[in-house]
Amino acid sequence: MTDQKRIVVTGGAGFIGSAVVRHLLSQPGIEVLNLDKLTYAANLESLRDVSDKAGYRFVEADIVDSSRIGQVFTDFRPHAVMHLAAESHVDRSIDGPEAFIQSNVVGTYRLVMEALRYWQRLPEAEAKAFRFHHISTDEVFGELGASGSFTEDSPYQPNSPYAATKAAADHIVRAWGRTYGLPVVLSNCSNNYGPYHFPEKLIPLVILKCLAGESVPVYGQGQQIRDWLFVADHARALHLIVERGEVGESYNVGGGSERTNLQVVQGICDLLDRLRPRQDGSHRDLIAFVPDRPGHDFRYAIDYSHLERSLGWRPLESFESGLEKTVRWYLENDWWWRPIVERQYAGQRLGLSKSEARAQS
Ligand code: NAD
Ligand code: DAU
Repeated sequence: MTDQKRIVVTGGAGFIGSAVVRHLLSQPGIEVLNLDKLTYAANLESLRDVSDKAGYRFVEADIVDSSRIGQVFTDFRPHAVMHLAAESHVDRSIDGPEAFIQSNVVGTYRLVMEALRYWQRLPEAEAKAFRFHHISTDEVFGELGASGSFTEDSPYQPNSPYAATKAAADHIVRAWGRTYGLPVVLSNCSNNYGPYHFPEKLIPLVILKCLAGESVPVYGQGQQIRDWLFVADHARALHLIVERGEVGESYNVGGGSERTNLQVVQGICDLLDRLRPRQDGSHRDLIAFVPDRPGHDFRYAIDYSHLERSLGWRPLESFESGLEKTVRWYLENDWWWRPIVERQYAGQRLGLSKSEARAQS
């Protein structure tokens, strides 16, 4: 075994995956193979600062494609797999769940199966050190009422098609650890935000709607609560977990920053009023309350004390500083988001097609 550590990151062209790739490549002694299918959500431009580093390589592949994945493992000989590839947007899972079943369930099954085949051929010491890390979401636990928070022991109660597929993937990975002995570790994280976030998600969507002077859609009355974590803090947590997490364990990762959606949206409006004032009033004037997301979870909140106690992690960024960094990043980096808005996704409402169709029939 060389001193270099080789890590496969699936979904490394996505929002969190690219932050993980950037983080890993900033550390000494790590080689990264980014394996990504390049769906609509992928953007290799998010990696342009690191893509010419010697320790980085990219393979365009679908995790559903067993033989391709098996070949990648044989050629690259990873010490760890960090599995982030997934369809990730709740609203799209309502409109079209099939892609979520394929990538998140079938894809995770095929990937973990190929990891198992590869791991079974490793010499003993390498097999012992190997890790398969599944990166998951707090949405597998369903929704909370006004109080309490999710722990690693919270029951699984996924409510959206997206959450159901991530729960299935969690169960598959855990079962492969228990039954076949594959050294797996899991983590479940709350809502991430930060640079390079695809503008279908609340925070980048609101920033770009405000910049375009368009109405800002707040689902329902905006009273749902999310627990926000700056993406670089998540990447740091994931690196710690894959390096030092205990085999078979789950780790909850969260920001300790609960906000109602309306507070988040108003916060963005206020930042933009300061950084890029409108001629004709406040950005808050653009807020429009629109029909709610079907099955909308009321509240998520994460108890990350297990991760803090066992591995010494805590978020470094406050929500206020992280949100300002994020807004400034979108103001300064239209080279990244403008092609997306022009060619891929212009901010139209998603996630209502099934319920609207039923209402009209
Ligand atoms: P994203 O949608 O930005 O990126 C997903 C990436 O996976 C894309 O690059 C896409 O091309 C790739 N991909 C999708 N299907 C694939 C397949 N079949 N084969 C290979 N590549 C495929 O997602 P994200 O927000 O960066 O989330 C990454 C992971 O973290 C997901 O597993 C998600 O469930 C989880 N997660 C996300 C959040 C969040 O707030 N965004 C929070 C907790 C957990
Ligand atoms: O909790 C972790 C999850 O966070 C991840 O697993 C998902 O991959 C990620 O997409 C995110 O899911 P959410 O559904 O919470 O994120 P989203 O940005 O889509 O929505 C955040 C909240 O804002 C949610 O309550 C719905 C609301 N919302 C969203 C959009 C897009 C609006 O009010 N208006 C909008 O236009």
